[in-house]
Amino acid sequence: MKIAVCVSGGGTNLQAIIDKINSGEIHNTEIAVVISNNKNAFALERAAKAGIEGVCISPKDFADRESFNKAFLEKLDSYNVDLVVLAGFLVVIPPEMIRNYRNRIINIHPSLIPSFCGTGYYGLKVHEGVLSRGVKVTGATCHFVDEGTDTGPIILQKAVEVKEDDTPEVLQRRVMEQAEWEIMPRAIDLIARGCVTVESGKVRIEE
Ligand code: GRF
Repeated sequence: MKIAVCVSGGGTNLQAIIDKINSGEIHNTEIAVVISNNKNAFALERAAKAGIEGVCISPKDFADRESFNKAFLEKLDSYNVDLVVLAGFLVVIPPEMIRNYRNRIINIHPSLIPSFCGTGYYGLKVHEGVLSRGVKVTGATCHFVDEGTDTGPIILQKAVEVKEDDTPEVLQRRVMEQAEWEIMPRAIDLIARGCVTVESGKVRIEE
């Protein structure tokens, strides 16, 4: 299975995918390209170190969103991937891309959807919301991307304890280490092995 990984920042989720392909935990998968909207994303350095082609394409380089969407989709299509993985990608996915890659785009969100998700909930803002609400358990969700924000069919989730003296940064790191870096690679492996189907908006996993 050929995948494209879309990134905007540090790339720790990308690194987890690279490492688990190399360790054999993710079967039958090759990263064809890493695409970022941010030329300074450390994720691009991680890709280069791993010998993976990195591409930078940003809305800032285009006169309007429509021309970016067209260029982004053309670039992605040129790699003929089976799956698109959004690993901290802070760009709105073009509706045409969601149609063309129905149930072939997955995203990692750092909460237990449907809590603390949707517009405005990204990065540290998610964990700030968790702490201000005082929930005792949070976690991460890997889901298929549809036309909404964090609304697609849920593939995997993993719970993480919220501790009394957590700061947003400490909680973010725990959610990454204990949940994100586990469930995103596992979702990719399950899809690569043909274990995942979507029926009326619900995901079935059969190993
Ligand atoms: C993570 O917090 C992830 O939950 C969110 O964006 C961040 C990406 O971090 N989608 P990294 O670039 O993978 O380190």
